[in-house]
Amino acid sequence: MTTEPDFDFGKGSVAQSYDDVLVPLIFRPWGERLLDEHGPWGGRTVLDLATGTGVVARLLADRVGSDGQVIAADINPQMLHVARDHCAGSGERVRFVESSAHPLEIDSGAVDAVICQQGFQFFPERAQSAVEILRVLRDEGVALVSTWCSVAECKAFGAICEALDAIGETDLANMMRRPFDHMPEDELQAHFEEAGFGSVELQRHEALVTCDGGPKSAIELALATPIGPQLRELTSSLFDGFAEELSARATELSRGESHLGKLVSNVIVARK
Ligand SMILES: C[S@@+](CC[C@H](N)C(=O)[O-])C[C@H]1O[C@@H](n2cnc3c(N)ncnc32)[C@H](O)[C@@H]1O
Repeated sequence: MTTEPDFDFGKGSVAQSYDDVLVPLIFRPWGERLLDEHGPWGGRTVLDLATGTGVVARLLADRVGSDGQVIAADINPQMLHVARDHCAGSGERVRFVESSAHPLEIDSGAVDAVICQQGFQFFPERAQSAVEILRVLRDEGVALVSTWCSVAECKAFGAICEALDAIGETDLANMMRRPFDHMPEDELQAHFEEAGFGSVELQRHEALVTCDGGPKSAIELALATPIGPQLRELTSSLFDGFAEELSARATELSRGESHLGKLVSNVIVARK
């Protein structure tokens, strides 16, 4: 049994911090790359599953054009609230659905593509979620599902975990490992093969986390994740210890340049 606190996207100001800091630094550039590599999107109906604050949905709204449609689904009302605010200008092109991945509140065969950027690892029922993704796709539809590799490869977040371990906050460190260390690539691929997709390809993407603030950005990054509320509750001496440990590691990662090392992700390309 785990004693880790929940990785909760609905707590306090997590949704807004996620959108203000993590989206421009990480999720927008990764979303752009995913869409650029797998287009064209014009005229298609696309489900952005686990849309979060809707960055992929917004990128898609521009790409599908007036003949296309984006459905943005997430289980978390706070994340959806920020997403809806952003998409206020997109008119009818983006439709929001508050839904879990399983059951997924979308009609069978309703979409040409499903994108799920860094959401699948959080789903409690992954095998059934892959089956749901297949169900909502039209014939010859495609699913693009990305999940981070371990913190050993995603060094900026590995540094946050190590800094927390160094000050004795192991529960919090393990919570930070949650999006990275709980989705082995063979299991990920097996879920889509066993769901009954016609073809399943596993790709690997990597990119530096570039940031103008260099190593100083590592603290901002940590505070913007769902562990942010717990970090803010640390005593000032523990927080200072954490900041010192993290800064040393981030300085080593950045090697004097404006980045925090690499992020690495698995990407499933599954065709119905
Ligand atoms: C790291 S965020 C990714 C958000 C977005 N795809 C992006 O690229 O910014 C993970 C999202 O998964 C959502 N999520 C977690 N469990 C879920 C579930 N069972 N069903 C649907 N969404 C879920 C969370 O609410 C959160 O918004």
